[in-house]
Amino acid sequence: MSVLVAPSILAADFSRLAQEVHAIEKAGADWIHCDVMDGHFVDNISFGPMIVDLVRKQTKLPLDVHLMIQHADHYLPRFVKAGADSINVHVEPEAKHDVAKTLGAIRDAGCRAGLAFNPATPFEKVEPFLDKIDILLVMTVHPGFGGQPFRPEMMAKVKRAREWQKSHDAPLDITVDGGINPETARLSVQNGANVLVAGTSVFHAKDYAEAIRQLRGSSDSQ
Ligand code: DX5
Ligand code: ZN
Repeated sequence: MSVLVAPSILAADFSRLAQEVHAIEKAGADWIHCDVMDGHFVDNISFGPMIVDLVRKQTKLPLDVHLMIQHADHYLPRFVKAGADSINVHVEPEAKHDVAKTLGAIRDAGCRAGLAFNPATPFEKVEPFLDKIDILLVMTVHPGFGGQPFRPEMMAKVKRAREWQKSHDAPLDITVDGGINPETARLSVQNGANVLVAGTSVFHAKDYAEAIRQLRGSSDSQ
């Protein structure tokens, strides 16, 4: 199984965001992950469609937008217009939207639909939507901040997702997001993840290409 690396620009140097995007593309990133936070669904505020649009203008790489916001349905068209390729929304009731409806709207807009769930949210909550999505995003930290430690107990969810994907032969990407480094990447891939979101371990590295190679390399040993 080929593993995709999606660096999260949340950990980039925003004073030179365009150069950071160029550098990460040159270093071999597969997707660019954009963490959008509204200060309501999570206890932090990051950026909105304006920055996604800026990133879009700097790269041809797929933009994987992770909406940690309330009322994603309302803001959706702005992220589509900004150039998102995939849009991940949250399943928790605190995200305050009709999940099935939003997922449908994402696909209708021509984007890939992703569903994200928090560490405290059981797998059963995403299960009813698995045949309506292209990406399942398993949070391996509580969302809101980069640089938190990975929660290995989330691997049970990754495993169940991969079992579901295999038994249905579904074209489902399984993403892990939070605390991903070469060691936790390897564990995640062993359990069935094929997309690795990594902020700190890529953007805080001296050599981005080496950091990405190490994340990917950890899958080569499988
Ligand atoms: C957490 C975000 C993650 C996070 C990843 O709220 O969804 O994408 O920024 O950052 P690291 O790799 O630093 O945990
Ligand atoms: Zn994210």
